[in-house]
Amino acid sequence: MLTSSCLFSNSQNPNPEREKVHPNTIMATIQGDNVVVPQMKLERLFCMKGGKGETSYANNSQAQARHARSMLHLLEGVLDNITLPSPDELFTVSDLGCSSGENTLFIVDVIIKHFAKRYEAIGCGPPEFQAFFSDLPSNDFNTLFQLLPPLAIKISLEECLAAEGRRSYYAGGVPGSFYRRLFPAKSINVFHSAFSLHWLSQVPESVTDSKSSAYNKGRVFIHGASECTANAYKQQFQMDLAAFLRSRSIELKAGGSMFLVFLGRTSVDPTDQGGPGLLFGTHFQEAWNDLVQKGLVDGEKRDSFNIPVYAASLQDFKEVVEADGSFTINKLEMFRGGSPLIVSRPDDAKEVGRALANSCRTVSGVLVDAQIGEELSNELFALLERRATSHAAELLEQLQFYHIVASLSLT
Ligand SMILES: C[S@@+](CC[C@H](N)C(=O)[O-])C[C@H]1O[C@@H](n2cnc3c(N)ncnc32)[C@H](O)[C@@H]1O
Repeated sequence: MLTSSCLFSNSQNPNPEREKVHPNTIMATIQGDNVVVPQMKLERLFCMKGGKGETSYANNSQAQARHARSMLHLLEGVLDNITLPSPDELFTVSDLGCSSGENTLFIVDVIIKHFAKRYEAIGCGPPEFQAFFSDLPSNDFNTLFQLLPPLAIKISLEECLAAEGRRSYYAGGVPGSFYRRLFPAKSINVFHSAFSLHWLSQVPESVTDSKSSAYNKGRVFIHGASECTANAYKQQFQMDLAAFLRSRSIELKAGGSMFLVFLGRTSVDPTDQGGPGLLFGTHFQEAWNDLVQKGLVDGEKRDSFNIPVYAASLQDFKEVVEADGSFTINKLEMFRGGSPLIVSRPDDAKEVGRALANSCRTVSGVLVDAQIGEELSNELFALLERRATSHAAELLEQLQFYHIVASLSLT
């Protein structure tokens, strides 16, 4: 059970005057209360591992690819319910948190081909399509752009649909945080975002403040943390999602839609994060403790590092969408995505250990490197790999990701 006794939002702060708005802040509103969100520092640094190397996202995102493919029927169901704009209008799709790799190209292609077929079914030529790939500025857009298939425009609809390995849309990259404005008002027909919205804009400040009751001493993630720490994470999620919705509500065209997929949890208790809890709250946590015990990192250094991820419950999500009021929820479900570990020989414990360490490193490596430097980071992930190898069978059996799948349209 969560109570709000350990944290102050402005509505709970007995002395709101003390919370002066720093010039580098943005305002977020949840349920009518003004809540100050410090300027995101994380967004300048954060990204998945770029390039095409062993620990790159491009090479470690097969699990996401598999989960996305298993949800295609849900995506297509949502696309079918979008009213087709006139074929004379430019049709714009944006993938938020696109990262670098094939996954985003695959999804954008699915969305655009789906609409091309819908126009064909009503006897119209296709409109011009454009797609914006959006992520934080440190994302490896270069690798992504090199993977873009060649453009095949001005072609007929038939050619466009048959154009295997070609691209029937204009493409652009948009750097910036999806927790703020990214596009002009009323410019986007379809927003898509997969496996991204569980990343918070920052680690809640109180979680790494030794004077706060939310201080997450001895831990690097919300999983298994105190109620106060969990409250801080939850509040950060609420503020971030509210900011996301406000921006998208301005940018979405009337009749457009958003399809969102991100890590969720089945437990009501946020300190039980499920799959992400197992990924960041057990062996990864213990690998950090190993570094401390070996005297390579001091305890405070570990405690000042936390993973800015929050796997929400359906209720958490619904509360923020309803409080915002700009969107109607057309679909909301918890989807069992499966394991994030893809291995060719499941009985090879070493391969499983390596897969776990790589998938952890590909998503959190940049943050770990920034905290302790690359050399200690190598040591941390080697320790993680060893621990994961000795728990391989258990990891394969227990590590499961659930995703919140939501489709929203303007109210
Ligand atoms: C796991 S990757 C998902 C990539 C891709 N959508 C896929 O399906 O494989 C998560 C992405 O979200 C991005 N991300 C996290 N926080 C973000 C933010 N505030 N604004 C924009 N992108 C963000 C990360 O940089 C990362 O590229």
